[in-house]
Amino acid sequence: YYIGIDLGTSAVKLLLMNQNGAIQKIVSKEYPVEYPKPGWSQQNPEEWYEKTVDGLNELLADYCKEEVAGISFGGQMHGLVILDKKDQVIRPAILWNDGRTTEETEYLNYKIGKEKLASHTGNIAFAGFTAPKLLWIRKHEPENFSRIDKIMLPKDYLSYRLTGIHSTDYSDASGTLLLDVKNKKWSNEMMEICGIRKEWMPVLYESHQVVGTLLPEVCQLLSLPSRCKVAAGAGDNAAAAIGTATVGEGQCNISLGTSGTIFISARQFVKDSNNALHAFAHADGNYHLLGCMLSAASCNKWWMEEILKTRDFVKEQQDIFELGKNQIFFLPYLMGERSPYNNPNARAVFFGMSMDTSREDMTQAVLEGVGFALRDSLEIAKRNGISIKCARICGGGAKSLLWRIIIANILNIKVESIRVEEGPAFGSAILAAVACKEYASVEEAANKLVMVTETLEPDAELSARYEEKYRKFKEIYPACKPVFE
Ligand code: XUL
Repeated sequence: YYIGIDLGTSAVKLLLMNQNGAIQKIVSKEYPVEYPKPGWSQQNPEEWYEKTVDGLNELLADYCKEEVAGISFGGQMHGLVILDKKDQVIRPAILWNDGRTTEETEYLNYKIGKEKLASHTGNIAFAGFTAPKLLWIRKHEPENFSRIDKIMLPKDYLSYRLTGIHSTDYSDASGTLLLDVKNKKWSNEMMEICGIRKEWMPVLYESHQVVGTLLPEVCQLLSLPSRCKVAAGAGDNAAAAIGTATVGEGQCNISLGTSGTIFISARQFVKDSNNALHAFAHADGNYHLLGCMLSAASCNKWWMEEILKTRDFVKEQQDIFELGKNQIFFLPYLMGERSPYNNPNARAVFFGMSMDTSREDMTQAVLEGVGFALRDSLEIAKRNGISIKCARICGGGAKSLLWRIIIANILNIKVESIRVEEGPAFGSAILAAVACKEYASVEEAANKLVMVTETLEPDAELSARYEEKYRKFKEIYPACKPVFE
């Protein structure tokens, strides 16, 4: 068996796959996010580990544990985990959607300069990236900064607890702004700019490479065999792309998780001319471009759970029939926005309500607002000469047929679903199988194991209506921007 562990923002999802690529079981364990101030977000790494151990026990309860040959990970990217000399976590992890680093991001982009950053790393600074978080800790928590002995990303903390090995992979390391992405090595210049030492950084691997085996106490705790291999894994978007076979050249994956992403695979290192899309390494050994919106399925979750006080998403969506006709808009910037605006101070907006506006209209506006914001990233890809005609879709939000239809028509592309929405967990299990030499390459494994179960074509009339609505959507952010400052 192979296990894929997706350390998400709202939950850890664990997937068990047999050696033929058949999915045996999926388990999910939720944990909270702390929002200590508006726009800040943190989590306790110990909780990730505890929930992963619980999840592994539940996942394997009815299976022969001796037969688990490999484990790998996908993980929420960019989050900063720091450990001291005694391997104690120094402070809660600051997450990818935390916006506290406005000043540090501006320092990097405007004092150091975007061109320099892009020449050292391939990217410019965004508030969620790891480097600005390190600068923030250096300034605001010097005591904590002085205790740093190891820096790691969220999924690397799990790997460290399981194997005792301090490692990461190129796809996840790309989001630190400390990696020279094209040449796949830590950037000495960035270490210097951030005042950090190379010894603090994890050892770099390709996603399918074995970093080690389980620690004896972990084997005992989980009743897993000591020969079980642990592969480096990937950032969750790269892992998701493996889980939907978005590999090779010019393929596209959309993930509707807490974040919303558009992922475009490339065989060579590529860069968006304005750096609005990220230029990262892929888990198949190649590269990709990534547009990331900070709140996607989380907008719907917030609207349903916090405002409408319901968890019955299906019921709330069942009375929505007439798509693209009303003029209600939602800007989905609950945690600020990354792509394309790079503005941690942006906030969500409902726009255009009148006395006849219904609850369903507003639910629909939330789903559409996420679609329009994804379209913003797709437009940037188009400006770089990349034409996307089809995308695979995964993530919790992709469970909703209505949302899939809305996305296909707003983006005006064909949208394909695969048999599991848990793209990152499936992709991670595939990486574990490749690490154990079940397949010759990640690309071969993904192409063999991933099956498309549904294809949605855009409807000419609906996509034309959405084209019109998108034009209006685009006017709202610039009008609101002065209020966000
Ligand atoms: C990507 C990003 C998010 C997180 C979500 O740059 O920040 O997609 O990886 O887990």
